Amino acid sequence: MITVKVPATSANLGAGFDSCGVALSLYNTARMEEADGPVISSADGTNTPTDESNLIYQSARRVYEACGKPFRGMKIIQESPIPMARGLGSSSACIVAGILGANALLGDPFSKEDAVNFATSIEGHPDNVAPAILGGFVVSAYDGGHVYSLRKDIAPRVTFAAFIPDFELLTETARAALPKEVPHRDAVYNLSRAALLATAFCTEQYEMLPVATKDMLHQPYRLPLIENGEKVFELAKSCGALGTFISGAGPTILAVVRTSDRAAFLREAGARLQEGELGAYHLHCFDADNAGAVVE
Ligand code: HSE
Repeated sequence: MITVKVPATSANLGAGFDSCGVALSLYNTARMEEADGPVISSADGTNTPTDESNLIYQSARRVYEACGKPFRGMKIIQESPIPMARGLGSSSACIVAGILGANALLGDPFSKEDAVNFATSIEGHPDNVAPAILGGFVVSAYDGGHVYSLRKDIAPRVTFAAFIPDFELLTETARAALPKEVPHRDAVYNLSRAALLATAFCTEQYEMLPVATKDMLHQPYRLPLIENGEKVFELAKSCGALGTFISGAGPTILAVVRTSDRAAFLREAGARLQEGELGAYHLHCFDADNAGAVVE
């Protein structure tokens, strides 16, 4: 069997809606081999579909079809610690696992760039799948059916604190909350910050993140869907976060923290979650993943 290990991801980073994303040190794994029909199980007790609707299975089948190869079926043993419907790229991780697993079983017809394109055609936007495949900080543009991505390693001097609530928010619900049109001034607000965000990561000037992560295109519309989300934003900022934003479509809220401040941040923010009646939120700290998905 081959094993595919895919990192969690956080998309948008505030201003970079549907474009920017980072890979985090939390991993789903899938062991895969050809079989007759779907033979799917979970090694960690996660409740995942075991029939043909399984996202890893479907993505693998699409690779076989795209390559003109007959698809009998797939045996898949999943481990899925990335929580579902929390804005940490769990469905992207499944799509990427299926694509990279099938690609390896077929003798690697797809390059990484092909895999990013193929995964984006399934997911609809590149900001989770690109960092899941490439690792690090990735900025992507989807143009004419092709994804143009550039990546940069994230320096070890920053780390990511995730306030993960015990409630879910489906991406389709969070996308349905967005307006069809936005004021020109909001578009300008975001494009200047998205450019600053990309430059800040590429030059490792993370001190720009308090401004560069601000957003007017999606967070104001989504925060009302996240119970106590505003309080968590305030809490993270007052504990010294460099940048705080909704992770992907939410409901997780992610804070970029200086690694030298990590212990103090976790202590202070953890205590204040308890005091502030924010017990639905659980605080986890992740490093950046600069490697991206690995196939063994
Ligand atoms: N960019 C996407 C969104 C990420 O915010 O809706 C979630 O899939």
